[in-house]
Amino acid sequence: MTRLQLRSRPRRNRKDPIVRAFHSEAQIGAQHLIYPLFIHEGERDAPISAMPGCARLSPAGLLREVERARAVGIGAVVLFPAIADALKSSDGREAHNSAGLVPRSIRALKERWPELVIVTDVALDPYSSDGHDGIVGPGGKILNDETVAALCAQALAQARAGADVIAPSDMMDGRVGAIRDALDAEGFTEVSILAYTAKYASAFYGPFREALDSAPRSGDKKTYQMDPANSREALRELALDEAEGADMVMVKPAGPYLDVIRRLREATTLPIAAYQVSGEYAMLKAASERGWLDERRSAMESLLAIRRAGADVILTYYARQVGEWLAGER
Ligand code: PBG
Repeated sequence: MTRLQLRSRPRRNRKDPIVRAFHSEAQIGAQHLIYPLFIHEGERDAPISAMPGCARLSPAGLLREVERARAVGIGAVVLFPAIADALKSSDGREAHNSAGLVPRSIRALKERWPELVIVTDVALDPYSSDGHDGIVGPGGKILNDETVAALCAQALAQARAGADVIAPSDMMDGRVGAIRDALDAEGFTEVSILAYTAKYASAFYGPFREALDSAPRSGDKKTYQMDPANSREALRELALDEAEGADMVMVKPAGPYLDVIRRLREATTLPIAAYQVSGEYAMLKAASERGWLDERRSAMESLLAIRRAGADVILTYYARQVGEWLAGER
């Protein structure tokens, strides 16, 4: 056997688990995860077929699920409401009803766990009879400035109820600055803004829209969400969100957009969040249910890749499960 004359043998650094751990770069812990939860008015939890393990939670179900997640170290949740058709309207006014489902849920959670970090989504789609994030005007146009006024009212209703982090997901122009001003004017200087900075017009939101029954009734979201072909545009959105006072910025979806996460990582000192969206979750679940993928290994690898790309924190429907897997290792 002829020995290769190699001075560098990278495999020496992979030869055993302890040596490998010396230089393991990305890590996943429960502290890096935010858990998105669906809520509704129903008495019972209603499972979501394309998102096994997720349900529209009743008020009691929400408390139960948060308790389970907290037990394994998950400290932050983000709430998404499924709103009854009767409460939907063309201006989405239920979004800023201070007695609405989201404000009530925030108060119930904060009463039980004051230290829980509650993130809230700002956008009109769950409340809009048109299924759009903004107000639809004549000819199907999404009205930017009218929408921003409604989003400010929505953010205030959430802040008054006790939200810690306001996350505008609507992609209207100027909404971060307007929400910052509205919050500050009411004294909510400690409420953070997590801007959905690079949110793409993605097919991977399908299961989410089923869960909330929030799909656009006509048209698509391409006049406000970004073109999946683009990444320079993400830098432009980043510059605006930073200038308007965003505390954290987000890339969404996550797995198919790792290059965008990396580009933002190199361009900002702000914390970066990435959203592993419903379709990414559904793919992992479906393949694992069929035995085609090892669920735990593939889910952990997909999250690790998102961290490696440069995300600080990940919104994932796997949050509680990951917490359980990691707790099992301790
Ligand atoms: C709506 C919103 C969407 C998601 C989060 N906030 C859907 C959309 O923009 O159509 C998607 C999340 C997911 O798919 O998991 N403003």
